[in-house]
Amino acid sequence: MSLSLVEPARLHQQAIQNVVSIESIPYGAGLTVGKRWAPESLVYFSYLPSRHLLAEDDMVFLTEFAALGICEQFIYLEGDILIPAVEHLLARKRGAIGADLRRCMIDLIEEEHRHTEMFWRLLETARPEWYPERRMRIHRASGRKLVQLMSRMPETFMPWVWMGLLFEEITVHLYRQYSRDPDVDPLFTEVHRAHMLDETRHFRIEQHLLREVWEPASPAVRAFNARLFGRIMARFVSPNSPFQALRLLLERSPHLRPHEAALVAELRDLHRNEAFQRNFYSREALPMTFATLDAYPEMAIVSRHVPLYRPGGGHARAVVA
Ligand SMILES: [Fe+2]
Ligand SMILES: [Fe+2]
Repeated sequence: MSLSLVEPARLHQQAIQNVVSIESIPYGAGLTVGKRWAPESLVYFSYLPSRHLLAEDDMVFLTEFAALGICEQFIYLEGDILIPAVEHLLARKRGAIGADLRRCMIDLIEEEHRHTEMFWRLLETARPEWYPERRMRIHRASGRKLVQLMSRMPETFMPWVWMGLLFEEITVHLYRQYSRDPDVDPLFTEVHRAHMLDETRHFRIEQHLLREVWEPASPAVRAFNARLFGRIMARFVSPNSPFQALRLLLERSPHLRPHEAALVAELRDLHRNEAFQRNFYSREALPMTFATLDAYPEMAIVSRHVPLYRPGGGHARAVVA
């Protein structure tokens, strides 16, 4: 299967016509009392069999933790991985990339800088005492060496392109969930809306980058990078951040302490939790990413790590044993 690409000249035109301004986001108005910071569908603990043990107050804490964690994760992925990789690529292949695609890459870099600024401002507005300086409080960077290699040698260590595609589309999927929930805070929804406006176009740009970087690589290099991306995905489908949330939750909610072992076991089992996987890492949630994976047979290996990915759109295996 081959990808149908959108012409870079058209993508650049769209960027010029749809500039999203940070100044239009009403940070000054602050958050709305009584509103949740995220829809419950984005809180990992909502999917646990022990969800009924969580009191209203516990869920408020977990929802805030999840909402802040999502912002930090975008800052990390866009600011620490995607921007440096695209900048290096632009510097190294300047002459070999067409002028229109180069413009699109510059658009993408500028927009991702704007996005990281949008998310920092949201973090600072929502919880100023956690963010007196711009330092991550929730996200724990793992695999620092690989991150360095991807940003300095983006043509050799290429999982960043696939991570970019995945997170561009997740942005749109997250916003859909925010927009459907009338009980979430309007400022959080507005930031996710403003973020989402650029991301379908970024996805199209990164499909071109697959053609520039991935396709010219040898089969061995592609296979190596497909394995690397699969291992990165294993961390996403089986996330670590809820264990940090659980530690803080147990400190503040003694009534949950007798259930610690069960909660830990259920969090460890998230990669086999059908409802969780379906909402985050399924063909329904990420149709464009899964279709792009389908177009590259070497990416079939991702199905070993992402339980609901079946190359070619076949039925995924049931994740619950
Ligand atoms: Fe972004
Ligand atoms: Fe993006």
